[in-house]
Amino acid sequence: MSTTATDQPAIAGGKPIKSTPYRKEKRYGDEELKELKEAIDQGTLFYAAGKKVHELEKQFAAKHDAKFGVACSSGTAAIHAAVMAAGVSPGDEVIVPPITDMGTILPVMWQGGVPVFVDLDPQHYNMTPAAIEAAITNRTRAIIAVHLAGNACDLKAIKQIADSRNITLIEDCAQAHGTTYDGKPVGSFGQIGCYSFNEFKHIACGDGGLVTTSDEKFAKKIRLSTDKCYDRSPGVADRNATFQANNYRMTELQGAVAIAQLKKLDSIVQRRQSWCGRLTKRLGDLPGLQLPKPIDGGTHSYWFYMMRVDPPKLGATADQFAAAVKAEGVPTSAHYIGKPIYKYPLFLNHSAFDHGDHPFHSVDYGKVKCPTAEAILGTCVVLAVNEAYSDEDLDDTGKAFERVVGHFQGKRS
Ligand SMILES: Cc1ncc(COP(=O)(O)O)c(C=O)c1O
Repeated sequence: MSTTATDQPAIAGGKPIKSTPYRKEKRYGDEELKELKEAIDQGTLFYAAGKKVHELEKQFAAKHDAKFGVACSSGTAAIHAAVMAAGVSPGDEVIVPPITDMGTILPVMWQGGVPVFVDLDPQHYNMTPAAIEAAITNRTRAIIAVHLAGNACDLKAIKQIADSRNITLIEDCAQAHGTTYDGKPVGSFGQIGCYSFNEFKHIACGDGGLVTTSDEKFAKKIRLSTDKCYDRSPGVADRNATFQANNYRMTELQGAVAIAQLKKLDSIVQRRQSWCGRLTKRLGDLPGLQLPKPIDGGTHSYWFYMMRVDPPKLGATADQFAAAVKAEGVPTSAHYIGKPIYKYPLFLNHSAFDHGDHPFHSVDYGKVKCPTAEAILGTCVVLAVNEAYSDEDLDDTGKAFERVVGHFQGKRS
């Protein structure tokens, strides 16, 4: 593969491939307005008195193979409620991945728990069962399996490890709406599934979250954990708080929007899968790129499209490659979150509080090493995707990657 004078990449002075904007859709419309009007007409926006949040919980749980759903104010709140239901208390260890959003990790710390970071699979970017197994101690209380970018974790093996040791498995599905494993929705394998409806997720209501479970005891504790430990079950008005809990309530307005969004989820996921699947086919023969691949037995819902470069084979680093593709008008960036979470100053300096002790001080995070996670971040390139992208967008994106790979290949020879 070589570049010709007429095929100069944009970084070398050529005309960028993408000359039209990527197709966009209005995210919220008449369906959301109809639900919002009904919420307003109720005369209350409080979840316990209105119908929308409860309706959302019922519909979401049914769609995700769960008996119960508890809506809350964010994905982070959902993880916090899950961690509380799992009983995580000061000094307990929780196994987590080093590449995720802080919303996965912070709730563990708020409970006085100790995040234990374990390494990832080089192709799927999720925690490996072997790494989880090796990190288990008699203080391990929970595992939070994050389905990164929308690709399912190796749930069969992880569930087996958790169940055999009586450890609670929490699935962080914030990036994995619509992802399945063994034909069932992710979130239904562990005892608890957590979702985010923040503005950037597959479906959104500005901010919001939801927890699913089929365990009634967990469901009750999750509800109390999101509402100051006040029991507002029908006929009960109990303020006898028995444990510390936040106000993580979802309002009827968020619930109304999320109901309308939930109806769009299947189409959103199906279109992302089709577009990204076709892109992978098109780019499959390009040298030096490792493209995303759904795990065996699972599907990928492509919250974003993350690939890795092989610099010696490609002839470019992740930074050089992402910059060259971006110059073609294609929305790419290198390194995703930049560094593994255990390298954040919070962990290196134990600076959770201004003063005083926290159980995570027992870990010297400066000594934590997850070599595969570090290699992934060093070599990954993220392409932002949207369900509205068109066939023309696909063709332009393909051409841009082909042109840029050709350019760097040409420089190698
Ligand atoms: C994997 C993961 N977990 C948790 C969260 C937290 O969700 P929220 O932003 O709704 O608090 C996010 C958000 O980006 C996420 O990507």
